[in-house]
Amino acid sequence: MDSIYQEIEALKKEHNAVILAHYYVPEDVQACADYIGDSFYLSKVATRLEADMIVFAGVAFMGESAKILNPSRTVLLPEPAADCPMAHMADPAKIRAMREQYEDLAVVCYINSTAELKKYADICVTSANAVKIVRELPNKNIFFIPDENLGSYVAAQVPEKNIILNDGYCYVHKEVVPEQILKVKELHPDAEVLVHPECPAAVLELADFVGSTSAIIQYASDSPKREFIIGTENGVMYELREKNPDKLFYPVAGGQSCAGMKSITLAKIRDCMKNHTGEVTVEEDLREEANRPLVHMLEASK
Ligand code: 13P
Ligand code: SF4
Repeated sequence: MDSIYQEIEALKKEHNAVILAHYYVPEDVQACADYIGDSFYLSKVATRLEADMIVFAGVAFMGESAKILNPSRTVLLPEPAADCPMAHMADPAKIRAMREQYEDLAVVCYINSTAELKKYADICVTSANAVKIVRELPNKNIFFIPDENLGSYVAAQVPEKNIILNDGYCYVHKEVVPEQILKVKELHPDAEVLVHPECPAAVLELADFVGSTSAIIQYASDSPKREFIIGTENGVMYELREKNPDKLFYPVAGGQSCAGMKSITLAKIRDCMKNHTGEVTVEEDLREEANRPLVHMLEASK
């Protein structure tokens, strides 16, 4: 009897498929991926894949973005119900009202959003490039959707802009509070604090470094320090420990867990390829509208 990894390898060959995985999916799933990374890396990879089939081990907006960027490929989501609640947390009526209020407004949309929201945006961003992109936009007034915490982090880094915040949030990162960081810091006073910008501003103030999941991994790998307190979803621990077997990584309060990401399993990856289920479809008009801000992001971050 083949192991599930062997079954997946055989199905990949049969369908000319590749597996993309975000750092937040379970460790055994990351272990079968051809490409693992943060949202920015995965969106860049998606544009240049020549495989017939892309299996996206991540939440729904990630598979949707891959399909939008590379429409001639078949994109499968092993668990189509794996959703990011924040991806829905903006209101088109409010966006329209903002556009009426500010003549020069740029709507900047975090990639953690549905295609239905992206279509209203001038440009998308990820946590890896949001500061650079907003800083370089010609517009003074920016409506940042949907994440309030990432928006307020960008506002602090780019004070010359008028950044209007929206009230969306990531429930996984919103739960991180300063007291938890301070508690772990008391136990490990030499540890550096590395956090994701979806955490609240009071948490970012305690951090030695703020960045995307890839940036956190890069920072820890380059740092001469040995101990780190990690303020993001616990899936990043896998790559952190793989790359840095001699270093120690401590989660805050036992670790943050994203239910959508953790619902992706090896069995679901095998089954979606075997039964051709979970195919992502995006109606062509919507695809073109949502593709525009994604392509704009990829060009602006070159
Ligand atoms: P990254 O931009 O680091 O991939 O983060 C994505 C995400 O979902 C954070 O919650
Ligand atoms: Fe969405 Fe938060 Fe999960 Fe990231 S960690 S996918 S923002 S719910």
